[in-house]
Amino acid sequence: MKFVTPTEVQAKAIPLALRGHNVVAQSKTGTGKTLAFTAPIIDKIDPSIRAVQAVVLVPTRELCLQDAETMRALGRPFKINVLEIYGGVEYGKQKDGLSYGEIGIVVATPGRLIDLVQQNYLDFSTVRTIVLDEADRMLDMGFFPDIEFLFSKMPRDHVQILLFSATIFQEILESIHAITHGKHTIVRIGKNEDEFVVDEIEQVKYVVLDRNHKYNMLKKIMHEEKPQHCLIFTNTISGVEFLEKRLHEDFRFPILAMTGNVSQKRRERIINDFKAHKIHHLIATDVASRGLDIPNITHVIVYDVPQYAENYIHRVGRTGRLSQDDGTIRRGKAIMICAQNELMSVARIEELIRKEIKTIRAPGVSADGSAAGNAAQQGWRTATRVPHSIGDADAEGDEDDEYSGYNYQPRNPFRY
Ligand SMILES: Nc1ncnc2c1ncn2[C@@H]1O[C@H](COP(=O)(O)OP(=O)(O)OP(=O)(O)O)[C@@H](O)[C@H]1O
Ligand SMILES: [Mg+2]
Repeated sequence: MKFVTPTEVQAKAIPLALRGHNVVAQSKTGTGKTLAFTAPIIDKIDPSIRAVQAVVLVPTRELCLQDAETMRALGRPFKINVLEIYGGVEYGKQKDGLSYGEIGIVVATPGRLIDLVQQNYLDFSTVRTIVLDEADRMLDMGFFPDIEFLFSKMPRDHVQILLFSATIFQEILESIHAITHGKHTIVRIGKNEDEFVVDEIEQVKYVVLDRNHKYNMLKKIMHEEKPQHCLIFTNTISGVEFLEKRLHEDFRFPILAMTGNVSQKRRERIINDFKAHKIHHLIATDVASRGLDIPNITHVIVYDVPQYAENYIHRVGRTGRLSQDDGTIRRGKAIMICAQNELMSVARIEELIRKEIKTIRAPGVSADGSAAGNAAQQGWRTATRVPHSIGDADAEGDEDDEYSGYNYQPRNPFRY
């Protein structure tokens, strides 16, 4: 793959995995975690055994396709075949793939995999490695029952477990314990273990009075920044659709919009067009927040403050990624637009990333986040202090939290 130097997570996790450890690895977004679990898997697979020997579980279909692509590239010289298993498409190819017995690695979203296991297309007797990519997401309440079910079908004494994510927090350690039985080695990368956002990402937040002021702020940002390749996140499907319509009316450039409501065929096309830089603006829900490796995103705009603080880290992590050309991390900018009643959620994000994001207040918003009557408060200025107790965390409804066909259970947003 023309990589010259391993990244830190690769240098630390690969040898441990080769020695047979269960590895739990946390390393920032865009630092090459995919290769860190792919390399040991490829090394361990015996191509002469015609059976599935590794299973990689991922939260979204697009990540399934992307991880499979990396694994296929690495497995090809060793004649190791890779099969994607995910929902929203026909069963034919997936069932055929499993029936021929030529597949060494399966990359899957849990729902469809369980479906095929229950139909006896796959058993795990030959599986030696299991990976949870985006491990904290795979072990949260939405997915945990599926993961538990799949693990109950595995030959637990022989299977090696590799867990990777940019965000592995204390609260998930119990679930990790449950699946590794406490036998795992933790690898955390970074000079400070509580640093989560890649240094090369410049972060700023704009505070506006209320939701109704957000769109005008976005328009102003688009005019000022003129982003070259831009990903915009909202919390809901209706938010994506609203922005698609308004931005198209106001700017007339082609815009992609991706939610869990879009057909799978179209979802794949959208990601391909955006990855290939054919279209430069993508609006999406959190279906696109984790794992996707899209070259040269210059701007991530967080239009709605995410309900779960860690999603901020994943959203902004779509920029500032390792460049395939020279191995350095590309600079990027992350801009969040916050209404005053979202400032509680913002405070939780800042607590989590242990950093106050630079603030730019819209005219009329005072330093404590309230509407300012004072004329001296008008105008643009920057500040860093954020109030921690204004407003209410604005839950916009869970309509979009069903990506990959799963019911996403509401979690406690106050757990940090
Ligand atoms: N050793 C390396 N040298 C240079 N580039 C690399 C190296 N390893 C991986 N890359 C490239 O870095 C980019 C980011 O890798 P990857 O998607 O695996 O990151 P990640 O850590 O999984 O991020 P995320 O947390 O967002 O999922 C990819 O384009 C990958 O090809
Ligand atoms: Mg990844």
